[in-house]
Amino acid sequence: MANIAIFASGNGSNFEALVKSLNQDQQNRIAILFCNNKNAYVLERAKKINTRIILLDYKKQSQKEVENNILKNLKTKKIDIIFLAGFMKILSKFFLDQLNIPILNIHPSLLPHHKGINAIEKAFIAGDENIGITIHHVNEEVDSGNIIFQKSIKLDKRLGLDHIENQIHQLEHKWYPVVAKRYCDFINNPANKLNLNFTE
Ligand code: GRF
Repeated sequence: MANIAIFASGNGSNFEALVKSLNQDQQNRIAILFCNNKNAYVLERAKKINTRIILLDYKKQSQKEVENNILKNLKTKKIDIIFLAGFMKILSKFFLDQLNIPILNIHPSLLPHHKGINAIEKAFIAGDENIGITIHHVNEEVDSGNIIFQKSIKLDKRLGLDHIENQIHQLEHKWYPVVAKRYCDFINNPANKLNLNFTE
């Protein structure tokens, strides 16, 4: 059984895509949602599907206290893997050094281009020929860990920014669950190799 934790701060569309896809397999369990924003819509989504929520309070606690609390919960809930899905806090080297489980993130650009916030808009304004998504391992620098997967499409600026944002989110909702599932399959069957070959 792969026990999964998801970290999110906002809308939660990737959280929902991950949950819908991973829960189809009885061997996976979304055990916890960690969220640092008490007003985030992701909380409504999590409540609907009865996911345990842990709210992180970076205002009342220091980063180290928050991270120690996360580490304690990851251990007691025996979490095997973490997926960041729009989590707007940077995790420290102290935290990452103590993790002995994979931690992945999704970013709406073709990294290393357009790290940080408003990545789709940045690519749109820059008029990049190709735009897309990146799924990568997490390290202590923003959007900088080893790249696992990228998917690109041609940018057609005539479609407008809203439409382009939609296209990118559709790519995210399609591919993050696919990549996540490969990791969960590997956790559930460690004798098999981690298969990171992806075709349409
Ligand atoms: C996504 O675009 C993701 O790539 C980025 O933050 C956004 C989160 O969207 N890291 P949502 O909250 O999953 O809808």
